[in-house]
Amino acid sequence: MSKTMPLRTSWFTDARFGMFIHFGLYSMAARHEWMKKYELISDEDYQVYFDLFDPDLFAPAEWAKAARSAGMKYAVFTAKHHEGFCLWDSAFTDYKVTNTPAGKDLLREVLDAFRAEGLRVGIYYSLIDWHHPDFTIDTLHPLCDAPNREELNRNRDMAKYRQYMKDQITELLTGYGKIDILWTDFSYPKFSRGGKGHLDWDSEGLLALIRRLQPELLINDRLDLPPGNADIDTSVEQFLPENPVVDDSGKLLAWEACHTFSGSWGYHREERTWKSVKMCIDLLVQHVAYGGNMILNVGPTSRGKLDRRAKERLSGMGQWMELNSRAIYGCTRAPKKFVPPADCRYTYNPETRRLYLCLLNWPYLYIHLPGLGGGKVKYTQLLADGSEIKRRESAEEQNGSTPPGALTLDLPTLLPEEGCEVPVIEIIFEDSFLSTFEDE
Ligand code: GLC
Repeated sequence: MSKTMPLRTSWFTDARFGMFIHFGLYSMAARHEWMKKYELISDEDYQVYFDLFDPDLFAPAEWAKAARSAGMKYAVFTAKHHEGFCLWDSAFTDYKVTNTPAGKDLLREVLDAFRAEGLRVGIYYSLIDWHHPDFTIDTLHPLCDAPNREELNRNRDMAKYRQYMKDQITELLTGYGKIDILWTDFSYPKFSRGGKGHLDWDSEGLLALIRRLQPELLINDRLDLPPGNADIDTSVEQFLPENPVVDDSGKLLAWEACHTFSGSWGYHREERTWKSVKMCIDLLVQHVAYGGNMILNVGPTSRGKLDRRAKERLSGMGQWMELNSRAIYGCTRAPKKFVPPADCRYTYNPETRRLYLCLLNWPYLYIHLPGLGGGKVKYTQLLADGSEIKRRESAEEQNGSTPPGALTLDLPTLLPEEGCEVPVIEIIFEDSFLSTFEDE
């Protein structure tokens, strides 16, 4: 991949799997990070969370360990979400963690903890701010229905808010060491009754500032700037795309899909729609097969812990990753000539030129791989335990004759117990075949 991608993004596209962390005052309400807006809560009523914010079990080292053992290679932490509360000791607001009972800069602790585990670090910074007095009340604001909205807006000055963002981003990019990703969120220029876009944020100015302060940093695409300005496409959120994410010329972008385990990004006590470990692995495989990254979110409790539901899924993914990460790290979509059979995905490592058949459903006894017959394949093995998978190009043993041009793999009825939620078969080509095609 590093052969075709610009160098700055290659660590990111090699990593493929990251952790998103949503943590803020909304973690106390435990019913969605948007609840201030959903329930139209006033600043006065929201103040109780600020007054009592006290994550006494705050343990970013545990989060970082859980991320690393899940196989994640980077983490993005919400320094400020839409509620406007800042988890660092900002000089530009009083609405910050050091003024709560928590009493310390939590962002710094998170960044230190993840770096100590060898992960890259990203900062999520909300462009939206429901607390700043100069942020004008728009469709998405908790005061959107206030009868005196127009009048309130007359006293609000977005120019001051723009400066506030520049000051804060400068703080974040000068006071916290090397930041690998800046995850801005989000623009909505087309909303009726008042949206916000690049002119409201001065995205051009912000981008220039960011590039100047940390030229290596990767920035996402939520600043409402023309294509080509961002390093990471984040248009896929909480769904599985049907195709790789490409630019107008068809070139694969460095893209990342963000997902929750259940639906809410902030800790949600009562959500009952948690994805299974198997479903999370399916998603990861399918994103990589389309040449993308997946960043999976955790919402720690207001006391600062990951709950059991999150821990179970992270450790389940980690067990699978321990045995199968070779099909994930450094991998991307396979060259177009390789068309996977039904219910399967291919991932491909352009450095080693090995192909990975990921089976979302385990078939009975055999599977045909179109186009891979005719002496192209040297060896096939189940990645989880490195056990050979036998190959043939005929009707031997009467299990389904191989269609013309295909390679048939004979499959065991029972799989090993570990690493087979999504079984992966590694396909190693003959050198003579590798010399006949270019990747892509
Ligand atoms: C949406 C939501 C936000 C969440 C984000 C993650 O933009 O507004 O709550 O942080 O998705 O991508």
